Amino acid sequence: MGKILVTGGTGYIGSHTTVELIQAGFKVVIVDNLFNSVIETLDGIKEITGVKPDFEKFDLCDYDRLKEFFKKYPDIDSIVHFAAHKAVGESVRDPLKYYHNNLVSLINLLKIATKKNIKNFVFSSSCTVYGEPEELPVTEETPTKGQASPYGNTKSISEEILRDVAKTHDINVISLRYFNPVGAHDSILIGELPLGKPENLVPYITQTAAGIRKELKIFGNDYDTPDGYNIRDYIHIVDLAKAHVVALKRLLEKKNKLEFEIYNLGTGKGSSTMEVVKTFEKATGQKLNYRIVGRRPGDVVAVYTDASLAEEELGWKAQRTLEDMLKSAWEWEKKYRNIQ
Ligand code: UD1
Repeated sequence: MGKILVTGGTGYIGSHTTVELIQAGFKVVIVDNLFNSVIETLDGIKEITGVKPDFEKFDLCDYDRLKEFFKKYPDIDSIVHFAAHKAVGESVRDPLKYYHNNLVSLINLLKIATKKNIKNFVFSSSCTVYGEPEELPVTEETPTKGQASPYGNTKSISEEILRDVAKTHDINVISLRYFNPVGAHDSILIGELPLGKPENLVPYITQTAAGIRKELKIFGNDYDTPDGYNIRDYIHIVDLAKAHVVALKRLLEKKNKLEFEIYNLGTGKGSSTMEVVKTFEKATGQKLNYRIVGRRPGDVVAVYTDASLAEEELGWKAQRTLEDMLKSAWEWEKKYRNIQ
């Protein structure tokens, strides 16, 4: 059995997936430029699994360095590709940074993968490709739209590139469209490490509870939803990570029906922002300081998945509840901040 290249493997989703891959018996080599992650994550992975994966620090936009890397690791037979910039707001301010990094790195990887006869490729996509969906729940058939952000565009364009390459080359691709991943590993040895002020809801909640932020601002309560707040499909990071192992095995065992397949990864249950806040308070016993403010530009009203295709085809289903997610996010925050 060959090695699995996990790009972005020290990042949030990458590190949790690396743990699941190692625990499933795979040999992993991580490439990460540590742009938005820390090397110490490897220690967490080692403590959980007993294995420190091979690690190489470089930028995937550097094609010569990538060629060197494949000389050193000739036995790689699959790629799970996470490495990308992911801050929506920043992508609006600096679109070229996003288009360059997210697309050039993918193209470089595909160029080398097709040369080296690597046949299996799992891609990290996002429900952001659906924009504001006309119908809920969202299925894989729901039309994708021009995106509100360059970040979203890079995900859609990446999928198109992968679709074309899978059509013409002997490479099989599964694109996983994540809904809203939250929480941390049960061991609390790895978790999400947002740099600076978080843009996402759950890290903002845990940092507010930890006293690092004064208050959580809730963006809008006048939406056309049952309680007036936005609705999202939050999914536990460990459930999400496990889906990558299942997807990779499907490719390795040649069970995929198409050369390019797409799966939505969510729980199938939408939760409103206020439900998240209330569930956090109930699950952790922490009173949250929050204030309702105006809408955040670019936010979609509601998005949650129909989770049936992943269950039917991959045999994968999210197991953990919103309460589990928020409890583990809080345990991670407490550990990270040394809160008793
Ligand atoms: C955002 C991105 C999405 C990306 C995802 C990655 C936007 C428009 N979308 O999704 O493209 O794939 O992150 O994780 O940025 N909220 C508050 N207060 C806060 C933060 C968030 O009320 O301080 C609300 C938001 O208005 C939203 C919900 O919480 O309704 C979830 O927000 P967030 O965690 O940022 O995720 P998305 O906006 O769904």
